[in-house]
Order: sequence, then structure tokens, then C-alpha cells
Amino acid sequence: MNSSPITARAHTNIALIKYWGKKDMDLIIPQNSSLSLTLDHFYTDTTVKFDKTLPRDVFTLNGHLVENPKVNHFMDLVRKLAGIQIFAKIDSINHVPSAAGLASSASAFAALAAAASKAAGLDLSRKDLSRLARRGSGSASRSIYGGFVEWCQGTDDQTSYAVPVEEKLDWPIGMLVGIVNSGQKKISSRVGMQTVVETSPYYQGWIQSTTADLKSIKKAIQERDFQKVGEITESNALKMHALNLSAQPHFNYFEPMSLAIMQEVERIREEEHIPCYYTLDAGPNVKILCLQADASAIQQILASKFGQITFEFAKPGEGVRFIEA
Ligand code: PMV
Repeated sequence: MNSSPITARAHTNIALIKYWGKKDMDLIIPQNSSLSLTLDHFYTDTTVKFDKTLPRDVFTLNGHLVENPKVNHFMDLVRKLAGIQIFAKIDSINHVPSAAGLASSASAFAALAAAASKAAGLDLSRKDLSRLARRGSGSASRSIYGGFVEWCQGTDDQTSYAVPVEEKLDWPIGMLVGIVNSGQKKISSRVGMQTVVETSPYYQGWIQSTTADLKSIKKAIQERDFQKVGEITESNALKMHALNLSAQPHFNYFEPMSLAIMQEVERIREEEHIPCYYTLDAGPNVKILCLQADASAIQQILASKFGQITFEFAKPGEGVRFIEA
């Protein structure tokens, strides 16, 4: 079989309640459930075409040929699911700085799951797409949906998948994303999270506290309590980073500029009375949750203090979908 090329677009998502640790490394079953906001501004377009003349998978990222064992492994999963043995040409265009803690792997594997499964002749439900995307990168399970999304941890491959919390958000919120450094991160999320699971004396405390945070943030979202949502988001991120500081060997993703921006966000909140809250992932970039109406005021203050940093604004985005190439 030679399939027709299929293109899917998936947006990145930023966790407000973080996933930071696996129970099963191969199936990617997390230690805790998580909750994210899908963003419109950052996304990946991926085209997959199965071609029986190919001796192996050929993967290009932004037009460059790349050897990526995670992509090959993922394609093997798709072939197994579809019962085929043909290799594919995979072309990805990332509208996200790769591997800088901006969850490019989330949009990448969500788009690949959709494009590859359809090109392989499968017609997966969104639940099954979320399960499949999860095998590429845990956070990708959430990029199947738009708006607020929960990844329910489950206990095995069948039960660990994301569900929409509120897909079409009628709440004018968004995120300012400060690109402190768009290079490769120093410690991959895979290595970082396993180090904390195995060595942080605070890990059990994290599980208890993040479970409570998830419950509280869902209530605050329902009640449209922006301050509550922001406070839980910021506190949950700091607890995740505290795990890294308490691991052996300890590590962290902060750069001096990340810390300066975090302090400035706190100052803007306290002194300028503009509600805004930060979160950071496995990288130095700072994402600031705010109301759409306040975004340009915050952006101006940040630009006046950190002229060298680009802050891009993103609104809530859609779930994965098929597009014309
Ligand atoms: O899905 P991964 O392996 O890229 O891990 C994502 C981990 C965090 O971004 C730090 C948190 C999260 O829930 O997205």
C-alpha cells in the first residue's frame, strides 16, 4: 500500500498542574493526573505518507533530515496497531521553539499520532488518539483537545488518557510566553522526572499536594475564579521545581533571567494590581497566565525591563485536526 499524504495540526499545551514522574516508563503511565491549557499560537503541522519503496522511515523537521529514535519507535507502534509493515515519509514543521520547555514534544506527538494513524488506515477516536499520543510523550496526550484538558493518570494503557475539561473556552484568558532561551534543554524531562521519582524525599508530598491542586483548580475554573486558578498554577509549578532542587543529583531549569521575570511578575501583581501568574516547565522559558485585556499592559512592562526577551501572547487553542498540506 502507498497511502495518500495526511497532514494534521496540533497545538502545544502548557500544564497548570504538572505531570512530573512516570509509573511505567514504556507505556508512559504518570504518577499523577495533570491539567493543561492548549495554546493557539504554537503548533506543529505533520504530514505522513506510507511508501512501500522506503527501506526505513524518513523524518524531516523544518525541512532538515533528522534521525530521531523516538519517532521511529512511535511509528513502530502505529504499524503494529494498523497491522502493516511499510515505512513512511514524515515531514514536520514546528511553529514552536524545539525542546526548550515549550512542550514542542506535546504538539509534535499529537500531530504525528493523528497523521500517522490516519495514513495507516486507522480511524481512531479522540480517546484512542490521546492514548496513542501519550506513548510518544506524556504531555502529547493532552494536545488532542483544545482549551482546558485533564490527563487522567489511569493505571494502564487502556485507562490513561486525556479528557476535555472545557474545550471551547468562553473565558478571555491567555499566556504570555517569554523565550529566555530557545536552545535545547540541559536535562530532558524523561531524565529529570525519573531522577526526582527515585531520589527526592519530597516526592510523596508532591503527589498528595498535586492531587489536591488538581481538584481545587477544576473548581476554580468552573467558578471563573482567575486569581485562584493563577495562584494554584504558580504554586504547583514551584512545587515541581522544588522536587528538582531536592533530587540527587540536584538540578534545575532556571536561568538568571527566568528568576528575574518571575520576580517581576510578582511585582506587577502586587504593585500594579494586574493579576498575572507564572509557570515554568523543563526549561528556562517563563509562561505568564493573564487576562487577555491585560496582556498588552504586561507585555509593555516586561519589554521595558527585559528588552532582549521576546514575549509572545497566545490565546486558548483548538485540539488536533486534519488540514490540507
Ligand atoms: O511529556 P513530556 O515528557 O515532555 O513531559 C512534560 C513535563 C512538563 O512539561 C514539565 C509538565 C507537563 O505536564 O507538561
